[in-house]
Amino acid sequence: MPASSLDTIVSLCKRRGFVFPSSSVYGGLGSTWDYGPLGVELKNNVKRAWWRSVVHERDDMEGLDAAILMNRLVWKYSGHEATFSDPMTDCRACKTRPRADHLFAAQKGRDPKGLAEINVAIEAKEIACPKCGSKDLTPARPFNLMFKTSVGAVDSGDDSGLVYLRPETAQGIYVNFGNVLDTMRRKLPFGIAQVGKAFRNEITPGNFTFRTREFEQMEIEYFVRPGEDEAAHEAWIAERKNWYLKLGMNSDNLRVREQEKHELAHYAKRCVDLEYRFPMGWSELEGIANRTDYDLKAHSRSAENPDAVGELKYFDQEQKKHLVPYVIEPSAGADRATLAFLCDAYEDALVKEPPAEETSKLRELVESFARSVGRRDNMAADVKQRLVSTAETIATGLPGTLPQLIGLMEDSEAANIEVMKKVRGVGEKIAEEHTRTVLHLHPRLAPLTVAVFPLKRNDARLVEMARGLKRELQKAGLRTVYDDTGAIGKLYRRQDEIGTPWCVTVDFQSLEDQSVTLRDRDSMQQERLKAGELPGALTSRLT
Ligand code: GAP
Repeated sequence: MPASSLDTIVSLCKRRGFVFPSSSVYGGLGSTWDYGPLGVELKNNVKRAWWRSVVHERDDMEGLDAAILMNRLVWKYSGHEATFSDPMTDCRACKTRPRADHLFAAQKGRDPKGLAEINVAIEAKEIACPKCGSKDLTPARPFNLMFKTSVGAVDSGDDSGLVYLRPETAQGIYVNFGNVLDTMRRKLPFGIAQVGKAFRNEITPGNFTFRTREFEQMEIEYFVRPGEDEAAHEAWIAERKNWYLKLGMNSDNLRVREQEKHELAHYAKRCVDLEYRFPMGWSELEGIANRTDYDLKAHSRSAENPDAVGELKYFDQEQKKHLVPYVIEPSAGADRATLAFLCDAYEDALVKEPPAEETSKLRELVESFARSVGRRDNMAADVKQRLVSTAETIATGLPGTLPQLIGLMEDSEAANIEVMKKVRGVGEKIAEEHTRTVLHLHPRLAPLTVAVFPLKRNDARLVEMARGLKRELQKAGLRTVYDDTGAIGKLYRRQDEIGTPWCVTVDFQSLEDQSVTLRDRDSMQQERLKAGELPGALTSRLT
């Protein structure tokens, strides 16, 4: 069973060292997260796989790593100072400040067509505060999302040192267009790729790492002759969709969505979103926009831009004239992609049937839980209905529904029901013995590639051979760990839960013939291989 809620993923991430709440020793900082030892490996692997696919495996791409702090004029002429904002309203009753377009969409069932339409709805008292229900809302007004800071040792009190933390990496690419073109002697079409941090003072961050104020983007600006832009756009949509699929993402969870006219950013002629079916619903993973010649022209000297030092253009040798390229921009989020791969890989699975008497005891408790929830009158009707029908389905289907029971035992709404304590008392033990949580991550994305165990940790020969094998695998460039802190079955479960594709066990036969068992995470099948063949065999399975 895949993750039924984001809470399941958040809990796994905290428990197993993928992602921690930031600054937790001081109570945290809302919606900011730190990637732990396994999370940093996973996210680095996502970024590496992206770079390899869009830079190393193509002939028409270059890489870049531009500064986060840029001249303020970049953001003036890109249009961000004037337009990079979200509409906000204040509730006069409870002083909440919600995002007005989200309120409109949630309460009227469709996206607004602009600020004016939102304000007509506020004026007509058609939308209400999500916290207290009051319809006494102020007119919505734009709130700029760029974080400000200042450069220089002296705070002069005016705006002379003002700079922004970049809200997208794209502008760093545009302003380097001429540098890359000149130094790399590129001909159209060609693109520039960049991975890096971006910052947005989001009004409503949330859903774990899905929307945060500090995040990483993986962006491409692909420059083409005007007129060749539409075909290039189609090609990039297919290319980028395939990238997720090649890395194992389930095609049922990935879709292409055409943005409607009113959703388009000020610079875009067309934009297509790749959306992933996250536990909270279909949401944007990556945007692929046709930005036309908007940005290169915006940063070129002209009557509208007297501050630029020159023009960002291209000399077309064939036509013997200058032109301003059009730009196709596949813009992905490294954090969102990482979260999507995690959600997609997650599975709770039954591995063996528990004894009948344990199952029937658990069934009685789950039925009792369903009855107890059904009797409650201080619970929201939708939550009550969901918990009752989930519990009834689980009770009927046990032991096959043990994986779903794990989801129910982690459900924060279910935790308040007294009988849940008894369900957990019995259910957790049965689940631990008879189910496994596994991350079916693509081997190239998995934080660890191989785990090596000695069958017995108190046998020095086994330990020595296992440690030596670990060093050999490490030398071959495979991310490897050694573990001897539990029985082999327990060690397998631990590695399954973090997505390690292969486990190697050194046993007594290994001492005689130098063979070891290689266990596959997904099939749980074991094969015997010569220890010396392992680095080559695993390296070839990784590509
Ligand atoms: N240069 C174009 C651009 O920035 P965007 O749709 O605003 O377009 C591109 O952002 C991608 O960056 C999104 O598809 C998403 O994956 C990621 N992203 C944007 N805002 C984010 C946020 N607040 N938190 C995490 N990721 C975000």
